[in-house]
Amino acid sequence: MTVNGDDALKTKGENRSKIKRVGVLTSGGDAPGMNAATRSVVRACCYYGIEVFGIHKGYDGLLAGDMFPMTIRSVSDTIQRGGTALQTARCPQFCTPEGVKQGRKMADVFKLDALVVIGGDGSFRGGLDLSREGLPIIGIPATIDNDIGCTEYTIGYDTCMNTVREAIDKIKDTASSHDRCSVIEVMGRNAGYIALSCAIAGGAEVCLLPEQKYDLETDVIQPILECRNRGKHHYVVIVAEGIGHSFELSKQIKDITGISTTTTILGHIQRGGSPTVKDRVMAGLMGVKAVQCLVAGEVNKVIAAKGGDKCVAIDIEEALATKKTLDEEMLLANEILSL
Ligand code: ADP
Ligand code: F6P
Repeated sequence: MTVNGDDALKTKGENRSKIKRVGVLTSGGDAPGMNAATRSVVRACCYYGIEVFGIHKGYDGLLAGDMFPMTIRSVSDTIQRGGTALQTARCPQFCTPEGVKQGRKMADVFKLDALVVIGGDGSFRGGLDLSREGLPIIGIPATIDNDIGCTEYTIGYDTCMNTVREAIDKIKDTASSHDRCSVIEVMGRNAGYIALSCAIAGGAEVCLLPEQKYDLETDVIQPILECRNRGKHHYVVIVAEGIGHSFELSKQIKDITGISTTTTILGHIQRGGSPTVKDRVMAGLMGVKAVQCLVAGEVNKVIAAKGGDKCVAIDIEEALATKKTLDEEMLLANEILSL
């Protein structure tokens, strides 16, 4: 058996590339499974004989030179933990050419030959800028939003969906007992994947997505009234964060239909928690693939899930140019199932 068609990748300590020391950071919004991804990168580096430095707080830490050598033991007992032990940050300074140059300089100071960036597409844009300054980059997609075009899956999405699904189930129990309507706001400022999947998984009557305009009367009020006429005892309205006015929407529903309506904004509960099996496995596979790319000298890539749990490496520019739109079949399925 070969790995990537390359027999050498099966061999412990086999690193033929010029990359001898790698930095790893987590950046942007945290996502469950970021620790499992960091662990995977660190362990794979140890396996292939590459030194690895953990960088605190994303690009903030790179600019400040806030980094430390990691060993197999540095990532013990982290696979099951939510959040990110390396911590993360949003670093506006890194969006400037001076910030990127400073990042490149710090990579030289610490003799980093490459950087693994665990985060979303914003973090990869920063990575692309660094690669243009000559620092080889590999991106690992981790965001609860699952909104990165080049990959079918982003680490954190499954855990987030399970958290939301559990919340919907519980809210529905109490709503059914009182014949109530429940407006439940889920995360997703620009992307509706969490809302759409959780509407299907939670059996929602209405789902409002940031990618689609909606009409209060036809898309919200009528479906709720039709459900009431058919004898339903609960009405679940999933609203993506990007829609932006859940309390006002609840009031409109109550005022027009007379149905008692509650609002629950799930908020950051969706970003925390122990990662699911799927997130741990994807983090494990993507982290190993990232390091194998470095060993094979394939750099400036984003690791992408293709066809389930297979991982491929995609050129970072191409990855960032690929937009993700909502899946038409999922949209139709949701429409059919929310009858
Ligand atoms: P995510 O990676 O989850 O999409 P953000 O969009 O918040 O999260 O990006 C995380 C960080 O990546 C930003 O705070 C910034 O430091 C860096 N970044 C984002 N966009 C760019 C850009 N266009 N150029 C350089 N760095 C960027
Ligand atoms: O990218 C993940 C995400 O949770 C989005 O769904 C949300 O819009 C954003 O991060 C909120 O981030 P924060 O609360 O950290 O500003």
